[in-house]
Amino acid sequence: MTQDELKRAVGEAAAEYIRPYLEDDSIIGVGTGSTANCFIDALAQHKHLFDGAVASSEASAQRLKDHGIPVYNLNSVSNLDFYIDGADEINEHLEMIKGGGAALTREKIVAAVAREFVCVADESKLVERMGTFPLPVEVIPMARSYVAREIVKLGGDPVWREGVITDNAGHILDVHNLDIPSAIAMEEKLNQITGVITNGLFALRPANVLLLGTQDGVRTIKAS
Ligand code: 5RP
Repeated sequence: MTQDELKRAVGEAAAEYIRPYLEDDSIIGVGTGSTANCFIDALAQHKHLFDGAVASSEASAQRLKDHGIPVYNLNSVSNLDFYIDGADEINEHLEMIKGGGAALTREKIVAAVAREFVCVADESKLVERMGTFPLPVEVIPMARSYVAREIVKLGGDPVWREGVITDNAGHILDVHNLDIPSAIAMEEKLNQITGVITNGLFALRPANVLLLGTQDGVRTIKAS
């Protein structure tokens, strides 16, 4: 199977995973990226079974609306049973690096509200140690150079993702060569830098379950 076929398989598996829990008033948290898009397309087949969705990006909101799925503002929603999203890297503890699609801040916010985070990923995303994928950090534009200098002090090599403005009007620094022995400690450290909006480590709130697309089928993995 190609990587795209694995993504489609996990998107469909995620729609099946949540289907038994869908009720007339259910609102689903939906992530961003090519794997999340596969989930949106699969979810659309069940749109008569639930009320609507909250999206972690304008792009996902548009895709949901194109399928005729109502999209709610998170401020009008107090409970989300599920948040389904992809990852750039995920480890056995279901800690992740996210933000390759620059949607990390809204992704972290919607994930914070959800009771269960279901990560959907093809097998190339599962890693023993995180940090090969450059860690995205969203910053207030005027703080970009200051934050970059602070990240250099932590041992990383930040590169400005020029031309990218996030849905929150932020800039993105992609941090290469960062040693991440503890994802929780690094997430907390980066959060402390003034001017950082969000960093792409999802360790304080990891996924609850991983649906991993492999050549032998979709594996369901719970945090170890
Ligand atoms: C977007 C994300 C995505 O979940 C991550 O980049 C994975 O994307 P894809 O499913 O396209 O490989 O964090 O900000």
